[in-house]
Order: sequence, then C-alpha cells, then structure tokens
Amino acid sequence: MSAQPMSIKKPAPVKHFLQFKDLTCEELDYLFERTRVIKQKFKAYQQYWPLTDRTLVMIFEKASTRTRLSFEAGMQQLGGAAIYLNTRDSQLGRGEPVEDAGQVISRMCDIVMIRTFEQSIIERFAANSRVPVINGLTNEYHPCQVLADIYTYIEHRGSIKGKTVAWIGDSNNMCNTWLQAAEVLDFNVHVSTPPGYEVEPERAGLFGEDHYEEFADPMKAARGADLVTTDVWTSMGFEAENDERMKDFADWQVDEDMMRVAAKDALFMHCLPAHRGEEVSAGVIDGPESVVWDEAENRLHVQKALMEYVLLGKVT
Ligand code: CP
Ligand code: NVA
Repeated sequence: MSAQPMSIKKPAPVKHFLQFKDLTCEELDYLFERTRVIKQKFKAYQQYWPLTDRTLVMIFEKASTRTRLSFEAGMQQLGGAAIYLNTRDSQLGRGEPVEDAGQVISRMCDIVMIRTFEQSIIERFAANSRVPVINGLTNEYHPCQVLADIYTYIEHRGSIKGKTVAWIGDSNNMCNTWLQAAEVLDFNVHVSTPPGYEVEPERAGLFGEDHYEEFADPMKAARGADLVTTDVWTSMGFEAENDERMKDFADWQVDEDMMRVAAKDALFMHCLPAHRGEEVSAGVIDGPESVVWDEAENRLHVQKALMEYVLLGKVT
C-alpha cells in the first residue's frame, strides 16, 4: 500500500434553483439560447436524450396542471424518467421532517422539483439534498414561470433589458419573482397593488429598490409599459381570504382600457390558470396582445434547458 494519501477531487457544488436570482445574467443568456436550441429539436421531432437514466422526483404539496406536465414530459423527452409524489399519499403529509425527506429522496434520484408553501421548506430540503432542487412554486416565488415568461418576451420582442413591465394586482409569488428578474436582467417593473397588498422588499428577496416603482393607480402603472401582466387575486394557500380579496382587488382588472394606455406593441401575460372577469377581462386574455399559450408552452422548453444545465453544466 502506498503511504501517500490519495488526492480526493472535491465534487462540484450542487446547483439549486430556489429563486430567480440564483442564476446570473450570464447564465440566463446561456439558458435562453439552450432553450431555443432544445425547442427547435422538439419541433423537428429530433430525439435528444442527454439525461438518459436520470430520474426526476416531483413533489407537489399544491395542485398543478402546467408544472407537473411540463416537468414530467420534459424529463421524458430528455431521455430520463419522472416520479410524482404528493402530500396525500406519501409520508410527507404525515409529519416526516423535511430534512429527512431531503436526505432520503436525494439518494434515490438525480434531481428534485418541489411545489410547496413557505420558501423555508424548499430551502431546508435543499440544504439536505445531494442533488439539484428546483422551485416549482412556493408562497414567495415562482421562478420557472418567470423564466418561461421572459423567454416568451424575447421570442416576441427581443431583449427585455431596459423595458418596462407593468405588474397589476397582488404582490404575490409571481410579482416577487418579476421583481428579482428585473434586478438580474436590468429592466423596470411598475407595480400597482390595492392598499394593504404592497410589495414587501425583504420577502421579495430584493437587492434594492432601483428596479421597481409602486403606483396607487393601475392605469398609471400600465401607461407606456412594454408588457402588462397579472395573476389571480387569491393564490393557492390563501383561499380563506378570497371574499375579502374579491372586494379589495375589484379595480385592479387588466382590461382593454388598460391595454390601450400601454405601449402600442405591448404584450399581455398571465401565468395561468386565469379567471376571466376578475384579474383580466376575456377581451384581453383572448385578444391579440395576449401570449398566454406561448408562455405555457415555453415552461416545457425552458425547464428542459434548466434541467440539462443543473445536471450537466454548460454543454456548448
Ligand atoms: N402556471 C402554473 O404554474 O400552472 P400550474 O399551477 O398549472 O402548474
Ligand atoms: N400565484 C398563483 C400562481 C399559480 C400558478 C398561486 O400561487 O396560486
């Protein structure tokens, strides 16, 4: 036996995506370019299996259509497998510590996606995980959706740098994520919420207050905006506040009058599911400015690029 100790190579740190600012501007540029390439392969029915034999575990503590479908289909299309777990029929709903779940689950798969309540839950899981963890929505953030939304903006209008996004409605997980994205990608957000629902910068995880402005009047927030976006008035987990919110948000509907004061070529976005007649009029969401179906489809393509990146690093 050699007396020399073997040199042990330190494993690369695990790359999680728990909030939007976990990625740099440079990484995002790379991801958006990979998204373009991966989307093109999908449209051309070209087989692309870089994640053969890799397994994704998806943990859902809240309902989902798009997130489940796009992650599960995406992993299969990359040559891997996806397993769905929910709180109802796993030990996760019976009080097993999230730290223990992180240890166990991450020993049996290569990547984990979690949709849960408080951001602290996904952070505790990630701190105990041997494999990358992706945020599929928490009360505070929805980073995969904003990745898809910004990719959609780029597809339609080019770079988002220096543009103005109007956020109308609740300062929820989507709003917080747009605010983080504005800091990383250097654009501006005009936010209008009803009184009592204003942005909480600390909860939004912002570096400062340079990239957004708050407006009491939603029409003023929308004026001249390149993109107008909104979301449900009552997010999952806040259903007990629904009646009160319906009254408080009544003047915060994105309608045709609001789109008219935005820039001439402004887009409308909504992460979906939407409530026509509440946060958005049917005329806007089903109208010519709306790109909501592209946003939904692009969840698939950006998340494939994201999974490839956190597992394989840069491939080009
Ligand atoms: N936008 C979005 O995340 O949709 P689901 O809740 O259907 O996953
Ligand atoms: N803000 C919404 C987004 C749903 C995709 C929610 O958290 O319910």
